Amino acid sequence: MSQPQSGILLEHCRFGIFIEAMVQGDLDAVRQGCKAFVKSLEELQAQYPQERLGAVIAFGNDVWRDLSAGVGAPDLKPFTPLGKGLAPATQRDLLIHIQSLRHDINFSLAQAALAAFGNSIHVEEEVHGFRWVEERDLSGFIDGTENPKDEQRPIVGVIGNDDADAGGSYVLVQRWEHNLKQWGRFSTEQQEQIIGRTKHDSEELDPESRPDTSHVSRVDLSEDGKGLKILRQSLPYGTASGAHGLMFIAYCGRLHNIEKQLLSMFGDLDGKRDQLLRFSKAVTGSYYFAPSLDRLMSL
Ligand code: HEM
Ligand code: MG
Repeated sequence: MSQPQSGILLEHCRFGIFIEAMVQGDLDAVRQGCKAFVKSLEELQAQYPQERLGAVIAFGNDVWRDLSAGVGAPDLKPFTPLGKGLAPATQRDLLIHIQSLRHDINFSLAQAALAAFGNSIHVEEEVHGFRWVEERDLSGFIDGTENPKDEQRPIVGVIGNDDADAGGSYVLVQRWEHNLKQWGRFSTEQQEQIIGRTKHDSEELDPESRPDTSHVSRVDLSEDGKGLKILRQSLPYGTASGAHGLMFIAYCGRLHNIEKQLLSMFGDLDGKRDQLLRFSKAVTGSYYFAPSLDRLMSL
């Protein structure tokens, strides 16, 4: 299989940087930017081999169609609002996703990314995420319990066929802002009903008795007896006194799995909405395609 980009499958990173940008220069400058970025990435990886540094460059639909001469990623499309606007669309052209065990190294790579792309892009969003205690979301619930592990990660997270898309991945980036004051008004038991797992140990609540509007019930979906799995690399972000929440990012070999979970959360499947929306709101939303490393280098 073609090699997926190095940031997709990493496990247990401690910090992440998420940069979303619009392309404003000509595409050749973007192509050169990708190559220069990967070079800086490889240098830092060689300098800090223990720090699990990885990164992903991914493209929004419009830029991808031009860059790829129309080849590949047939399912990619611009993100459109869901749930009558509860999930806004802020589609950007380019995603730079960096993660590792160290924020200082990530920051160096982010600086290298800006130098590599120069005036060919205009940054619209830059978010710095951190792993919180015990890999918990700021809601206090462990995030990632049912994430695919080990050999399941590439099976779920990247395209496994043998055409031009092999080793590529569809991506959703959605920034969520939590209202933790509101969240704190719920008892632990109420919070557990909202998430669908226990707070302390992340034990799954019985699917028969938990609300079908609990988060887990909304997103633990199957079709024809097969689970619709995605690979999440989300991290908490923000300031204690200001905006904070979850920087949600998912990779998948099929855009369909991600989209179906979103439709289910925002009430566009059966009219029922995820109870997460009682304390958190989506404030951005973009779909991207991350080509394999070979494809990225030969665009
Ligand atoms: C599971 C939190 C948004 C997809 C979970 C769990 C928590 C959580 C605490 C249970 C532990 C685990 O299995 O990881 C959140 C928060 C969100 C959010 C705080 C935003 C405020 C989303 C979105 C999607 C999603 C937007 C999909 C597009 C999933 C999936 C699971 C999950 C697939 C595993 C379900 C299973 O198979 O049991 N999430 N999540 N989440 N979440 Fe989210
Ligand atoms: Mg499950």
